Amino acid sequence: MSEERTPDKPVKGRKNGLYGGISDELGAGMRSGWADTERHDLEPSEPSGYAAKRRKAVSAAFPGERIIIPAGRLKTRSNDLDYTFRAASDYAYLTADQTENSVLVLEPLPDGGHLATLYLLPRSNRENGEFWLDGQGELWVGRRRSLAEAAVELGLEIRDSREAAARIAEAIAAAPNVPTRILRGHDLPLDAALAEADVVRREEAQPAAERDEELKVFMHGLRLVKDDWEIEQLRKACEITVHGFEDVVRELAAAVATSERWIEGTFWRRARVEGNGVGYNSIAAAGPNATILHWIRDDGAVRPGELLLLDAGAETEELYSADVTRTLPISGEFTELQRKIYQAVYDAQEAGIAAVRPGARFRDFHEAAQRVLAERLVEWGLLDGPVDRVLELALHRRYTLHGTGHMLGLDVHDCADARCEDYVDGVLEPGMVQTVEPGLYFQRDDLTVPEEYRGIGVRIEDDILVTADGNENLSGGLPRSVDAIEAWMRSLRG
Ligand code: GLY
Ligand code: MN
Ligand code: MN
Repeated sequence: MSEERTPDKPVKGRKNGLYGGISDELGAGMRSGWADTERHDLEPSEPSGYAAKRRKAVSAAFPGERIIIPAGRLKTRSNDLDYTFRAASDYAYLTADQTENSVLVLEPLPDGGHLATLYLLPRSNRENGEFWLDGQGELWVGRRRSLAEAAVELGLEIRDSREAAARIAEAIAAAPNVPTRILRGHDLPLDAALAEADVVRREEAQPAAERDEELKVFMHGLRLVKDDWEIEQLRKACEITVHGFEDVVRELAAAVATSERWIEGTFWRRARVEGNGVGYNSIAAAGPNATILHWIRDDGAVRPGELLLLDAGAETEELYSADVTRTLPISGEFTELQRKIYQAVYDAQEAGIAAVRPGARFRDFHEAAQRVLAERLVEWGLLDGPVDRVLELALHRRYTLHGTGHMLGLDVHDCADARCEDYVDGVLEPGMVQTVEPGLYFQRDDLTVPEEYRGIGVRIEDDILVTADGNENLSGGLPRSVDAIEAWMRSLRG
C-alpha cells in the first residue's frame, strides 16, 4: 500500500516542497468536494478480444503452470521525475493494456485452462490523501480508469497491483507444486519476490532461468504471425510515417538552415500527434553521417547537394511500429553518382521484396538482395569477381554492412528471441510482417573506393506483409524509385 501521509508531514519532491507542512484544515478539505466520475457507459475494447485469443494460446502451451507477465515499472530519470513509460510488448499483446507496474497472472485451473487476473493500479484514494500527495496520485499524473472500468474494457478479473506480489506468494503457498514462469527483467522487485516465494523454482531440476527463457522464446514465436487487428495497426503506423516523411521534405529548407535535429523534430512531432511517438530513435543522417548505421545524434549539418538518409518509424497508440528508410537528395535531384548507387540499392530491394512470399525461406530475400549488391560492386570495379566468390567470402559486407531485414510488430526488431527454426531459419507464412532494407555505405575514410564514393550512404527500407499469394508493401505510400522521389519532392516543395 502507498504510504499514509499526515497533515503535519512535509511533502517531499515535486513543487510541493515549497509549501512545507499541511494544515489539518487543508488536509480535511481535500478529502471532499469531488464529483463521482465513475463511468458506466464503457464496453469491451476491440483489441481486448484479440488479447483473449492470444492468452488462450499461452494457456494451451503451458497447461498446469502459473504464468506471470509484468508490464514493467516506471524508471526514474532524476529525483522524482520518471522517463515516459512504455509497457513491455508481451504484456500489451496479452492484455490490450499499457499501465505501468501491472502484472498479468494466468493461474492454472484444476479442470484445465487458466484463470487470467490482471493487477492494475486503481484510482487514487482521496481519504488518505494519496491522490494529491503521492507522486503517482491522479492529481499529478491524470485520471486512471477504475478497476471496475478496466474489468469492462479489458474483459479480465482485475485486482490492485500493489497486492500483486503478496497474492502471487499466497497462490504459490497454496499450490507449491505448480511450476511458475515469469517474463523476467521487466519488474525486478517482482522477479525477486518470486525467487523468494517459489519453492518449486528453487528445487526443480530445470533451473528457473531456463524455464523463464522458454516462456520468452514462446512469446516471440507466438507473435511472428500477426492477426488482422495487428496488421491494421501496422498499416496505420506506416500511414503516420508517410505523413512524417512528407513533413520532413516540406521542411528541408529549415533543416539546411539549422541541422539534422530539425528533421528529427519534424518527424517526431507528426509521430507524437498521430500516434504514440516514434518506434525507435530516428536516424536523420545527412551527408557522410548516412554511412553510420545507428546515427542517432542527429546533430550534423544538412547540405544541398548531399543525400539525407532518414530511417524513421511512427508507433501507433497501441504500440505497433513502422520502420522505414528513404534516402533523399537534399537539393531535390540526385547527382549522377548518387543516382547510380541509389539505383543499385533500389534494384537489390526489388529483388528482396520479390522473394517475400509464403513458403519462401526467410533467408531468401536477404540472399536475393545481397547478390544484386555484390554484382554491382564487382561491375563498378570495387570488388574483384567473380560474384559467387565475393558472396562466398562475404567480401561485399564491407559496403553492405547489415542484414537485409527483420520482423516488425510491437517491437521494431520484433520476435528477436523466437526459435531459429521459426524465424531466421524458418519459412514465411501469411500474416508475417518484415522489413526489406538493403543498403550501400562508403565510409568517408575508406581508401578502397574512389574518392567520389566516400561519404555516400544509401538505404531503402519498406515494411512488407506476407499475403496468401505474395506480399504487400505497407509503406508503399512513399515513393521509392529515383524518378518518383524527385517528382514527389518537387510536388511537396512547390
Ligand atoms: N531502424 C532500425 C532498423 O532499420 O532496423
Ligand atoms: Mn530502419
Ligand atoms: Mn529495420
